[in-house]
Amino acid sequence: MTAPPLIVAPSILAADFARLADEVRAVEHAADWLHVDVMDNHFVPNLTIGLPVVQSLRTATELPFDVHLMIEDPRRWAPGYADAGAYNVTFHAEACDDPVALAKDLRSAGAKAGLAIDRDTPIEPYLDLLPSFDTLLIMTIKAGFGGQRFIPHLLDKVRAARRHVASGHLELRIEVDGGIAADTIEQAAAAGADAFVAGTAVYGADDPAEAVRRLRGLAERATTGA
Ligand code: DX5
Ligand code: ZN
Repeated sequence: MTAPPLIVAPSILAADFARLADEVRAVEHAADWLHVDVMDNHFVPNLTIGLPVVQSLRTATELPFDVHLMIEDPRRWAPGYADAGAYNVTFHAEACDDPVALAKDLRSAGAKAGLAIDRDTPIEPYLDLLPSFDTLLIMTIKAGFGGQRFIPHLLDKVRAARRHVASGHLELRIEVDGGIAADTIEQAAAAGADAFVAGTAVYGADDPAEAVRRLRGLAERATTGA
């Protein structure tokens, strides 16, 4: 079985919000997904954007949206993002008492379903739920803010998830989010991640598209050993 191509997903959290459409178009031909961080000032202390911005942005780009909901009560809000045309909708395990039911709702609304695991949450209790999901997002920082330092030992969760996916022959993306940059992406790829969110490393660069291509090259090299 050949592995699916790696995904690089720039996070618009690090973009200039006054020029959001332009910032998205700057990575349009280099990125695979656009990572959209929704924060509600309850699940995390920070507050970002919500459904109206996602709906408007949907008309500005062809890129698939990878919506990362850092919100309370995702059963109430998450399906709206699927209805708005998000490709993948990820909600936090810590915020949901029935993740499998919400995954079903998201899939029946036409989206891929993603489960996010924050810094302090162990992965083991969730491994058996993974057949209901398309994406597993493992935070490599504490969720809530961009620009934080990558925490290497959190890759142990990526390794555990990758072993589980391989032994169960699951079709699941393993995505890492937080502090992913040129000096960290190779270790994340070697641990078994195949989707990479990068905010600061993309939008902090002079040429965001070039930064995406560089990150992809590093991840590919670390995966294939080329
Ligand atoms: C933080 C968000 C991340 C953030 C990553 O909670 O989930 O997606 O944008 O930003 P960097 O890549 O700067 O760590
Ligand atoms: Zn995110």
